[in-house]
Amino acid sequence: MPKHFLSTKDLNPDIVDQLLSKANWLKSNKDSLTDLGLLKGKILLNLFYESSTRTRLSFEIAAKLLGADFINFNPDLSSLAKGESFEDTAYTLSQLEIDLAIIRHSEGGAAQKLAYYLNQYNQEKNISVINAGDGISEHPTQALLDFYTIVSNCPNSSVKGKQIVIIGDCLHSRVARSNIYLLKSLGAKVKCIAPESMISAEFVEMGAELDHDLINGLKNADFIIVLRIQKERLKQEFNLDLETYKQDFCVTEEKLKKANLNLNFVKLLHPGPVNRNIEISENLINHPISLINQQVNNGVFIRMAVLWYLLGHK
Ligand code: CP
Repeated sequence: MPKHFLSTKDLNPDIVDQLLSKANWLKSNKDSLTDLGLLKGKILLNLFYESSTRTRLSFEIAAKLLGADFINFNPDLSSLAKGESFEDTAYTLSQLEIDLAIIRHSEGGAAQKLAYYLNQYNQEKNISVINAGDGISEHPTQALLDFYTIVSNCPNSSVKGKQIVIIGDCLHSRVARSNIYLLKSLGAKVKCIAPESMISAEFVEMGAELDHDLINGLKNADFIIVLRIQKERLKQEFNLDLETYKQDFCVTEEKLKKANLNLNFVKLLHPGPVNRNIEISENLINHPISLINQQVNNGVFIRMAVLWYLLGHK
């Protein structure tokens, strides 16, 4: 059985099928889940070293619906404030009889590091780790819920041959990276549209096509994933001119029409939180093409499926 959920690179079509089937089953049976107590007796620990609304709350709700016990670790109230190192925190956690830890951290590789330390210090307990976003590296449950939302809106439930366009701050986006690994492995065509300062050759190596012109790049898009500008990760020397960004990259109804997209078919996603009128115009957020609310709701079922996948057989 899999032990951790750290990267979409570790997934394959069979695992994704299993997870999506489970998410569908959980959605259809949501009213009876608390009675079933599928993860009753399991203890989950949420370690969020960075802020979050959607991921943190959806994991907590997912755990409660599955009957698991859920504990929030608050870094500000932890011994981190007394200078305790990440490794020593992991050492302590390894002895606390938890079954699974969910971590968000500003440093890429933090989830892998935690998994390594927990295993090293307590080989018997077999503690699982879920990466809830680490620096600019990966956010695998976000990519999986995006994929679930996309296939739920595909007539034949497949992304094979579909054109997925990712717009914005790719360079600093863990969501973009996890999405590209997953979507490419499942047969989608992926294109990134970004200013030159917000993209790099790394994305071509991952198999994405690049464009710096929004209208041109949007042509033939089936699904558009707009990214948040990761202000907290922009280095001081990065001079972001928001007015120019808005003019060139903010997705508006007018620009979608200029790209000849049919608003009856194209769909729009954003992992949230949205910087309104910078990344997407206000009126598109609740427009019929927007899947943003579906993404948030699907996050609960995808995270339940991932918890079940890691703990349901232990
Ligand atoms: N998409 C996402 O990770 O949102 P939060 O930062 O609110 O969890």
